[in-house]
Amino acid sequence: MTARLGRAYNPAMTLSIGILGLGALGTLMAWHWRDHDCMVISKDGKPVFRQLVTANNTDQLQLAHWQNENLDWLVITTKAADTLSAITPLAEHLHRIKRIVLLQNGMGQQEAVANWLSTQSKAPELWLASSTEGAYRQNHNDVVYAGQGQTLIGRYQEGPDQDTQDHDCLPSNTVYVPDMLDRLRHKLAINAVINPLTALYRCHNGELVRHSDYRQHLQRLAAEIAGLYAFLNWSLPWDLITQAEQIATATAANQSSTLQDVLQQRPTELPYINGYLLAQAEQHGYALPHCAELMTQLGN
Ligand SMILES: NC(=O)c1ccc[n+]([C@@H]2O[C@H](COP(=O)([O-])OP(=O)(O)OC[C@H]3O[C@@H](n4cnc5c(N)ncnc54)[C@H](OP(=O)(O)O)[C@@H]3O)[C@@H](O)[C@H]2O)c1
Repeated sequence: MTARLGRAYNPAMTLSIGILGLGALGTLMAWHWRDHDCMVISKDGKPVFRQLVTANNTDQLQLAHWQNENLDWLVITTKAADTLSAITPLAEHLHRIKRIVLLQNGMGQQEAVANWLSTQSKAPELWLASSTEGAYRQNHNDVVYAGQGQTLIGRYQEGPDQDTQDHDCLPSNTVYVPDMLDRLRHKLAINAVINPLTALYRCHNGELVRHSDYRQHLQRLAAEIAGLYAFLNWSLPWDLITQAEQIATATAANQSSTLQDVLQQRPTELPYINGYLLAQAEQHGYALPHCAELMTQLGN
C-alpha cells in the first residue's frame, strides 16, 4: 500500500452522515461511525433502533431520522437494485448533501446514479466505496459483526488535482484510494466467479476448490471473465483463476451473499454482477457463454 492511501482520519472532526439502507452493512458502518453525527433515512421517516453483536459485546444504536440537516456524507448501503428508487425521492434535498457515496457490491448502479445526478441542479459529489467487512442480520434489529475487513473509498471521477485534497473529510474506518472504479471491477470479477457457482451448487465457498467438478467449472468461468477484462482493457492485478481459488480457500466456511439470498428466497444481486458483465460484453459483441448459461440456470 502506498503512502497516499489511508490518509489519517482526523478524530477531532465530527462529520454529519446520513445512512440510506440500515441493513447489515449500514448498521455496521453506523457502529463504526458512532462518534460522528449519524442519522438514518428510513422508509417510514421514523428513528431506527439496532443492536450490533460483536464477539465481546452487544451495542445498542439509536439513529434519529434525517430532518434535512446539512450532510457531509450520504452513504447508500441498500442492495444495488434499490439504489435509484432509494435516492431519487431525495431530489429536492440534494443541496443539503455535500457527497454521496455508494457502499455496495455490484456495478451498473454507479453509472445510473451519476446519470441521474447529472440531471439535477446542485448535485453532490459522487463517491464510491467497497468493503470486505462482513455482517449479517440475525433478525430485523440485530446485526452480527461476522468478520473484520477494510473499506476503501474514492471519487467516482478522479480529477488530476483532487488526489491530495480534503481527505480529512473521510469517515473513520475508511481508506482513500484514487482508483475506486478499478477496485470495484476487481471485486466484481471475484464475485462473478464465486457467487453464482456457490448458488448453483448450493455450497460453501471452500467446496468450489475441494470438489473437482466445481473447480473445473470455476476455472472455465474465471478464464472467460478474465478474457472479457482483457478485451475491455480493464485491469486485473492478479490471475483471476488463481485469485478466485485462493479466495474460495481463504473463505472456505463462508456462504456467499448470493447463496444466502437464494436460500432465503430473496432477490440476488447477480443482475448487477454477472448481469452487468453480460451487458458490457453484449455492447461489444463479445460472447460469455458460461456466464450466460449460469444466469439462465439461476433464473435470471
Ligand atoms: N453485509 C455485508 O457483510 C456486506 C459486505 C460488503 C458489501 N455488502 C454490500 O452492501 C450492500 C448492502 O448489503 P446488506 O447485506 O447490508 O443488505 P441488507 O441487509 O439487505 O440491507 C439493505 C437495507 O437497505 C434498506 N432499503 C432498501 N430500500 C430502501 C429505501 N428505499 N429506503 C431506505 N432503506 C432502504 C433495506 O430495508 P428493508 O430490509 O426494509 O428492505 C435494508 O435494511 C449490498 O450491495 C451488499 O452486496 C454487504
